[in-house]
Amino acid sequence: MKKRGIKMKENKYDQAAFFQQYRQMNRSKEGLAGAGEWHELEKMLPDFKDKRVLDLGCGFGWHCIYAVEHGASDVIGVDLSENMLAEAKKKTDSPKIHYLHQAIEDYDYPKAAFDCVISSLAFHYLADFDAICKKINHTLKPDGTFVFSVEHPVFTACGTQDWYTNDAGEILHWPVDCYFIEGKRVSHFLGEDVTKYHKTLTTYLNSLLKNGFDITSIVEPEPAPELLATIPEMQDELRRPMMLLVSARKK
Ligand SMILES: C[S@@+](CC[C@H](N)C(=O)[O-])C[C@H]1O[C@@H](n2cnc3c(N)ncnc32)[C@H](O)[C@@H]1O
Repeated sequence: MKKRGIKMKENKYDQAAFFQQYRQMNRSKEGLAGAGEWHELEKMLPDFKDKRVLDLGCGFGWHCIYAVEHGASDVIGVDLSENMLAEAKKKTDSPKIHYLHQAIEDYDYPKAAFDCVISSLAFHYLADFDAICKKINHTLKPDGTFVFSVEHPVFTACGTQDWYTNDAGEILHWPVDCYFIEGKRVSHFLGEDVTKYHKTLTTYLNSLLKNGFDITSIVEPEPAPELLATIPEMQDELRRPMMLLVSARKK
């Protein structure tokens, strides 16, 4: 018997083939050090000392563990996937981390309960960013911090999420199409059709401004210099942004 709400949502991470592929990614095997955007995201995180932290779409829990290792007093990680949470629980027995098997949309967001809300690469699975911003503002204490990453609108617009190539397989360009038509896209990711939701840059930023946040930084991360210098394919990552990182403060 699935919890109400959870069974209604597509949950690729609980499908065996997809999950096996996800486990093979560098970010799954190496944690934060294997995540291409981490060198930028880390700089945007607040001082966690004695802070209460909420991680939305926590996956394997790498950011939860990081927060506790940097002094957080307690962390709640919310995720839709039983597979992801089972893996997260294997990685730590810290009594300061609590994992909840719940959809981000369905969490109850207690009033003024957290100093910091983080979310890494989960909001492009959600249809309504404005609604989530409202809830996050409600659950943050005054001056609380909200830091998140998403797939960049340039990356999600077309939906296919693949380069255009010539007959020889050489990259021609990244397709951007239907940019202002927000909503559902079916992308091909890790060998599967995966539903994601495209939103414009305006939607991401204005939803924050409309819902009681000051934006404190915006980063479109480029690969770390050492990766650019040593992995030739990384040069292609300079052709289009893949991620958008934003930090904001509750007014
Ligand atoms: C790309 S993974 C990122 C995991 C982790 N935040 C990280 O950066 O390592 C996306 C995660 O979001 C979760 N997710 C997707 N949609 C969700 C939803 N509606 N509610 C809760 N979790 C969701 C997935 O189960 C998955 O664990």
